[in-house]
Amino acid sequence: MILITGVGLPFELPRAYPGLIASRVNHEQAKLAAIASRIGTCERRWIAVVTGANKGIGLEICRQLLEKGIMVVLTARDEARGKAAVSKLQDGGAKDVVFHQLDVADPVSIASLKTFIHCQFQKLDILVNNAGVSGIELDVEALSGFNNNKETHLESFVPVMIQQYEKAKECININFYGTKRMCKAFIPLLRLSQSPRIVNLTSIYGKLQVIPSETIKTELRDADNLTEGRLDNIISSFLNDFRTNNVLKDTWPTDLSAYKVSKVAVAAYTRILARKHEEMCINCVHPGYVITDITWNTGKLTVEEGAKGPVMLALLPDGGPSGQFYFQTTLSSFE
Ligand SMILES: NC(=O)c1ccc[n+]([C@@H]2O[C@H](COP(=O)([O-])OP(=O)(O)OC[C@H]3O[C@@H](n4cnc5c(N)ncnc54)[C@H](OP(=O)(O)O)[C@@H]3O)[C@@H](O)[C@H]2O)c1
Repeated sequence: MILITGVGLPFELPRAYPGLIASRVNHEQAKLAAIASRIGTCERRWIAVVTGANKGIGLEICRQLLEKGIMVVLTARDEARGKAAVSKLQDGGAKDVVFHQLDVADPVSIASLKTFIHCQFQKLDILVNNAGVSGIELDVEALSGFNNNKETHLESFVPVMIQQYEKAKECININFYGTKRMCKAFIPLLRLSQSPRIVNLTSIYGKLQVIPSETIKTELRDADNLTEGRLDNIISSFLNDFRTNNVLKDTWPTDLSAYKVSKVAVAAYTRILARKHEEMCINCVHPGYVITDITWNTGKLTVEEGAKGPVMLALLPDGGPSGQFYFQTTLSSFE
C-alpha cells in the first residue's frame, strides 16, 4: 500500500487494486493520488457514491454534489457511458470525480465497487440509490400516430405501454433489490463515516395510494413492525400474480405495475432501514416529474430541479430527519 498523508485524513492507495488491469494501474493511481492529495487538504471530506449516474438525474446529482465540495464516485453499468459522463463533468471544471463500473443487478459488480471504495477511501459518507428503469416498453407501432409532445403527461402513455413479466421482474430487481443490495453492501462502510447518509430515489408512484389492496397497504404502513422478510414476501406475491396474469385491479396497480410496486417497496425499505440504523440519515425522495429518458422526456422539471431534493437529503446536517418521504425538497407522507 502507498500511504499518502495530507493535512487531514491519511489516504491509502493499493499497489494493485484488483478491479484494474495492470497496464492501467499506474495511470489510475496517479489520478487517485492527485485526488487523494486534495482530499488530504480538507479536514473532513465527504465521499459519495451515486448509482445510475451516466445521465439524467443521477448525473446532475453528481454535478451538484461536486459543487458542494463532495468527492464523487460516479457509477454506471456501462463503462463507456460512465466515463463519458465523468469527462463531461471534468470539462465543466469538476476535479474530484472518479468513475467506477456498477450494475446494481450484479452482486459481483457491487462487490468490486465496495473493494474500490474500501481501498481508496476506507469509508463512505453518502450513498445515493438513483439507478432505475420503468419496467415497460412502448408499443412502437401504436406510438407512431401518438401525440407525445412535451405537454403529454406520463399517464397518457398508458394505452401504448406494454407490460411483460421479464421486464417487470427486471424492474423489481433493479429498482428495489438493487437498492437493497447496495444498502447491504455499503452500510458497513457508511458506519465508518461520522455523518452517514442514504438517499433512495422513489417516486410519487411509490406512495401507498397506488396500491389498491387495503390489506397490503395496512402491512406496508406499519413501519414499526414491517420486516424485510415480509416486504420480500409481498414483492414475491406481486411477481407471482404478474406472471400468472393475476394483477387484479383491486390488489395491484394495473398500469406501470412493476415500477409502482418497486418504488413502494423502496419507500417501505427506507423506513425499515432507518428504524434499524438510528445513527444514519436514511430517506427516500420523489425528485419531481423530470425531463429524462425514463419519462420519455415528457417531464415538467429540468434535471437541475429534479436533483435538488436528493442532494439536500445527501447533505442533511447531523441529527437531521430519517425514515422520511420527501416530495422534492419538502417533507411529505408515505400515503
Ligand atoms: N424522471 C422522473 O420524472 C422521475 C420521477 C420519479 C422518480 N424518478 C427516479 O429517479 C431515478 C433516476 O431516473 P432518471 O429520471 O434520471 O432516468 P434515466 O435518465 O433513465 O436514468 C436512469 C439511470 O439508471 C441507470 N440504470 C438502469 N439500470 C441500471 C442498473 N442495473 N445498474 C446501474 N444503473 C442502472 C441507467 O443507466 P443506462 O443509461 O445504462 O440505462 C441511467 O443511468 C430513477 O430511480 C427513477 O425511477 C424519476
